[in-house]
Parts: sequence; structure tokens; C-alpha cells
Amino acid sequence: MNAAPLAIRRLAVADAPAFRDLRIAGIVENPHYFGAPAAEEAAAGLPLFESRIRGSQPGEAVFGAFRGAALVGVAGMSRPASGTMKHRGNLWGVYVAPAERGGDTAERLLRAVIEHARAHVDVLTGHVTVGNPRARAFYVRLGFGFSGVEHKILKVGDRYHDQEILVMDFAAPSAYLAAESASGVQP
Ligand SMILES: CC(C)(COP(=O)(O)OP(=O)(O)OC[C@H]1O[C@@H](n2cnc3c(N)ncnc32)[C@H](O)[C@@H]1OP(=O)(O)O)[C@@H](O)C(=O)NCCC(=O)NCCS
Repeated sequence: MNAAPLAIRRLAVADAPAFRDLRIAGIVENPHYFGAPAAEEAAAGLPLFESRIRGSQPGEAVFGAFRGAALVGVAGMSRPASGTMKHRGNLWGVYVAPAERGGDTAERLLRAVIEHARAHVDVLTGHVTVGNPRARAFYVRLGFGFSGVEHKILKVGDRYHDQEILVMDFAAPSAYLAAESASGVQP
């Protein structure tokens, strides 16, 4: 691994090109882990990535892990506009470059997003594709629980994929069992 120091910080608009390139690389690597096809993301161009970095709701943010000057990991928090839902942040777009996996890069990145979420929302939710045991184990280690399964939430080519719903309830950390799924799905 590159010996340059690791830094975690919120992305700035100037990071949009690196954000776009890393996200598209992640989707190409595992299209069934992400909620948008690489071609759509590429076609949307930089304005989409700049607007995600800016956010449209209070607390929306994208965090990055930088190895030296290189963006090597990203994770975002979005938030509904609706008054009855805006207490929930949604974790999205979690991706760490292969060379950075297995160390503390992903954990440091996600802990920054979690602390950010704690300051803005009551609950942090997310999704993990059934059949992604590494990500699932990672979220368990960070303290997420699982509240069920969304059936056929993604369709990649002609194949459907289910996703488990991740939950971190800041007021009730043990509201959901960490390692068990409510639906009994096999991780
Ligand atoms: C998910 C991700 C951020 C995790 O970061 P990471 O640095 O790889 O995490 P770790 O190496 O600490 O692995 C997490 C756990 O999975 C375990 N693991 C590693 N490879 C595994 C595998 N092939 N199968 C099952 N578990 C595995 C690790 O031992 C570790 O377990 P522990 O927490 O009990 O020690 C990173 O792998 C990634 O970006 N993957 C591709 C994109 C992705 O899956 N995004 C998530 C979308 S929801």
C-alpha cells in the first residue's frame, strides 16, 4: 500500500472529477452493489457529482478518504426533504479502492460519516446487497443492525438483487440485532 498518510474529509466541489472516476470504477467492479448503472453516471457528467457534493438538504454530505492527494474511498449521506422523514439519513455510495481494503481506511471513512450523521439525524439507514458478505461484516463491526430485506430492489441486466436494510439508531443502538436479519436471509 502507498505509504502517504491517510486523510478523511468532506469532499469539496473541486473533488468532483475524482469522485466521479472513483464511483464509476466502483460500479464497474460491482454493478449489483450500487443504485445506478455506470453508463448513467458517466452520461450525467460532472454537474451530478458537484450537486451531490453540495447537497440539497441540511446535513447532506459526501466524505472522502485521501491517500496523499489521491481519492481512494467515498461515502455519502443523503436526507429526505419530507418533514416526516428528514430525521433519517441515508448512507449511500460506499466504496473503497481495492488496494485500500483490509486496513483501516474504510473504517475511518465510515466513522466520519457516522459522526456527521449523529449530529444531523436520529437514524442512519442504508442498503447492502444480499451476497456481499464483506460489506455486511464491515457494517456489523461498525454497529449497524438489519431491519429487513428489500425484494428485487436492483435489476442489473436480467438479474434481480435483494438488499438488506442497514440501521443505526443513535437513540437506541441495540434496537436491531447486529448479526441477524429480521427476515432470516442468509448473508
Ligand atoms: C465494503 C468495504 C467498504 C469494506 O472495507 P474493507 O476494508 O474491505 O473491510 P474489511 O477488510 O475490514 O472487511 C470487513 C470484514 O469482512 C471480512 N471479509 C473480508 N473478505 C471477506 C469475504 N470475501 N467474505 C466475507 N467476509 C470477508 C473481513 O475479515 C472483515 O471482518 P471483521 O470486520 O469481522 O474483521 C470495501 O470492501 C468495499 O469498498 N467493497 C466494494 C464496494 C462495496 O461493497 N460497497 C458497499 C456497498 S453497501
